[in-house]
Amino acid sequence: MNLKDLYINFFVSKGHKQIPSAPVVPENDPSVLFNTAGMQPLVPYLMGAHHPYGKRLCDYQKCVRTNDLDSVGDTTHHTFFEMLGNWSLGDYFKDESISWSFEFLTEVLHIPKEKLAVTVFKGNDLIPMDEVSYNKWLSLGIPKERIALTEEDNFWIAGETGPCGPDTEIFYYRSDKETPKNFDESDENWVEIWNNVFMEFVKSADGKISELPNKNVDTGMGVERTTAILEGVNDNYASSIWKDIIATISEISGLPYRGNEKSMRIIADHLRTAVFISADYAGIKPSNTDQGYILRRLIRRAIRHAKKLNIDINSDFESIIAKKILDQYQDYYQELKDNYDVVLEVLKNEKIKFNRTLEKGLKEFNKITSKNENIDATTAFHLYDTYGFPIELTVEMAAELGLEVDEKGFEAKFKEHQELSRTASAGKFKGGLAGNGEIETRYHTATHLLNAALKEVVSKDVHQKGSNITEERMRFDFSCDHKLTDEEKAKTEELVNKWIKEDLKVTVTEMPKSEAINSGAECMFIEKYPDIVTVYSIGDVSKELCGGPHVKSTKELGKFKIIKEEASSAGVRRIKAVLTNE
Ligand code: ALA
Repeated sequence: MNLKDLYINFFVSKGHKQIPSAPVVPENDPSVLFNTAGMQPLVPYLMGAHHPYGKRLCDYQKCVRTNDLDSVGDTTHHTFFEMLGNWSLGDYFKDESISWSFEFLTEVLHIPKEKLAVTVFKGNDLIPMDEVSYNKWLSLGIPKERIALTEEDNFWIAGETGPCGPDTEIFYYRSDKETPKNFDESDENWVEIWNNVFMEFVKSADGKISELPNKNVDTGMGVERTTAILEGVNDNYASSIWKDIIATISEISGLPYRGNEKSMRIIADHLRTAVFISADYAGIKPSNTDQGYILRRLIRRAIRHAKKLNIDINSDFESIIAKKILDQYQDYYQELKDNYDVVLEVLKNEKIKFNRTLEKGLKEFNKITSKNENIDATTAFHLYDTYGFPIELTVEMAAELGLEVDEKGFEAKFKEHQELSRTASAGKFKGGLAGNGEIETRYHTATHLLNAALKEVVSKDVHQKGSNITEERMRFDFSCDHKLTDEEKAKTEELVNKWIKEDLKVTVTEMPKSEAINSGAECMFIEKYPDIVTVYSIGDVSKELCGGPHVKSTKELGKFKIIKEEASSAGVRRIKAVLTNE
């Protein structure tokens, strides 16, 4: 049995319900492009909302982290990974959490406790030392030489605000050498495998830390890393997870893995991530903004490395590799089955597009670098704009020649360009979790009202196709076959404001998915909801399947104003709107 199945079986046997992995593209958290941790889709529940599956949950969650995309190529970095997690929503706390982690590691995975070490929260001015965890580890037979007390590293929060708390991290000694008696975090052989966070606090935007209604547990264990450890390999890409994929790349290129590790890892990693992003029900396609731009960068970097391995980039190499990935994961993720052909199509189209400019771009690059000078921002931007070279591609190729690129200058130009074309802000590429603040919550409720108003004013066939919320505005995409008339826009705005004035109550109920659909509740992607769903109603004007959070009543929204209505893609229109306090 593989690690994922062992983990889920174990926690189910401890009274947990398995929840499905949320999509890689978050739905109610516009502050991040991708889910980066197992807890991210659970934020509303960690904050106190009732979860339809109860108080003990477990899952394997798809995560995408592209902050250090250019580090991929070594033995440990991946842009996509699966995170195993178990949660207590105000149920068990430190004692059971630590006991079960220890039991799973030593009795299910048969890791000798002599190879383990832990860190525990040391305490600071605000929060005392975590003595409960410390004593628990001692009682389980972890000697004090193997328990490190630290402050900074043992307080976990995703980004700047949200649920947080002290944590205890579990390390494994990954080496053939004898395990040292003392735990030394700076010794790289000690690898962190699991993090148990005791989420009893919440940090607000002004930096204040206050108690949450519940004492929660949030844990996270990386599948790739732990699998490599269990299989005794020091290169993650040599584990069973990657074996077939790497072997396929090796076969296509006719080259051995040894000596070509970097390019093969990049191709394997980037195509795997591209498969998961393009299979997501959100329907992400390569583009120059937001998730689409990450997807584009991943595919293009993989193609460039395929070329480096002398793979014929006009062949269907990307399909052959992607099929291996799809086949390996499709029993775990339904969207890979549903969107099997979509994924292959996305990869192929992007390959064709890039291949059209790649040759010319490489020629231009060679011309530029023949002077052996560093690359300035204007040149880097020219390579991006004319030949479709994402910045890390230029940086990487320059580095191979010992040259540098003005990345900062490029970012400034890129941002300027994006702002000019009124698209996403480059800041969002940084990730981090926020977005459950009061302002976003108000906007979130406003999207439900807008959706309902459009149905009434424009057509009952209007359906939500996407949304994006920042503290400044909301963006709402919907199916519609025409540009809205001024009258339609005015009427929609009026209707939303009428409902706000009526101070309609927002209520939430749980019901089986089929019942929710039969009752006419609106929803975007029915396939990916669990069997029991939460349905938010606003008075009797709106009813939608949704994870929340929402305001309590519509008066909290202020005044609604449509700023812009434009085309988004074929058959999809986009509204940008703001809420003001007038
Ligand atoms: N949320 C914690 C982490 O990602 C478990 O490390």
